[in-house]
Amino acid sequence: RGKRAFIAGVADDQGYGWAIAKSLAAAGAEILVGTWVPALGIFETSLRRGKFDSSRVLPDGSLMEIAKVYPLDAVFDNMDDVPEDIKTNKRYAGQNKWTVQEVAESVKQDFGSIDILVHSLANGPEVTKPLLETSRRGYLAALSASSYSYISLLKHFAPLMNAGGSSLSLTYIASEKIIPGYGGGMSSAKAALESDTRVLAFEAGRKYNIRVNTISAGPLRSRAAKAIGFIDDMINYSLANAPLQKDLEADDVGNAAAFLASPLAASITGSVVYVDNGLHAMGLAT
Ligand code: NAI
Repeated sequence: RGKRAFIAGVADDQGYGWAIAKSLAAAGAEILVGTWVPALGIFETSLRRGKFDSSRVLPDGSLMEIAKVYPLDAVFDNMDDVPEDIKTNKRYAGQNKWTVQEVAESVKQDFGSIDILVHSLANGPEVTKPLLETSRRGYLAALSASSYSYISLLKHFAPLMNAGGSSLSLTYIASEKIIPGYGGGMSSAKAALESDTRVLAFEAGRKYNIRVNTISAGPLRSRAAKAIGFIDDMINYSLANAPLQKDLEADDVGNAAAFLASPLAASITGSVVYVDNGLHAMGLAT
């Protein structure tokens, strides 16, 4: 039987989530995605109208199929968490079953089990503010959307993951080194995500026999990254200073994700794997 993957955080064809979906599809996996509720309408329309067709092409010439798109807001675990203003917001009102627990239940009902869980989402409302200027609310929102969302996803999906399964998230070097401009508590959120990767590898490994890793990715001009504001500088910095002076493609991260999700990586868990042309290893800009 082929493997089945659920990828949370795909809303267009520009980000790491899409590239990971493609690499997993190319390796024969069935693809389910979770799309942020406010972005769902445009994503589904664009898919239907063929706007992504050129980026759906797999190495064998076929087009990636997405078996099902689920609405998801990973900031809420179940309906009890959802405040009135979100419930009545017109971008949410037309959708249902989009909290983490409900999405896991729907996937279980629709497909029974999964083998691969991918968390490719982050959000920090104050990301453009220095940490010193970040509000408590903004900081906690960054941690909720970017770190706890992973714990929640794993907690609710692990029971439907087949033994030997693999779970992955995406992190960024700002967790361990100072990256001015990656503010709002996003650096803290990535530090938490990496630490949680180790603890969850232990807990989910013992309890469910699944692996938990995170990819520390280099800079990509995704929608989320453009919102931070300094992505072109980061890409140029990497080109100038990384050991490998080449463009980092989203597919490089997709392929590493497919490796980590595969039996080739059967003994890798609790790891931060750098897919960044080696930039993390530099100590001095050149
Ligand atoms: P992206 O914009 O393709 O992906 C972020 C996704 O998160 C979007 O689809 C957005 O709709 C979704 N999202 C935001 N809040 C959500 C919520 N509450 N519930 C559900 N979905 C939500 O951008 P990108 O850059 O590919 O981001 C994917 C991951 O890669 C993130 O964890 C990011 O921090 C990480 N990363 C990105 C780097 C970059 O340079 N682009 C570098 C290193 C890591």
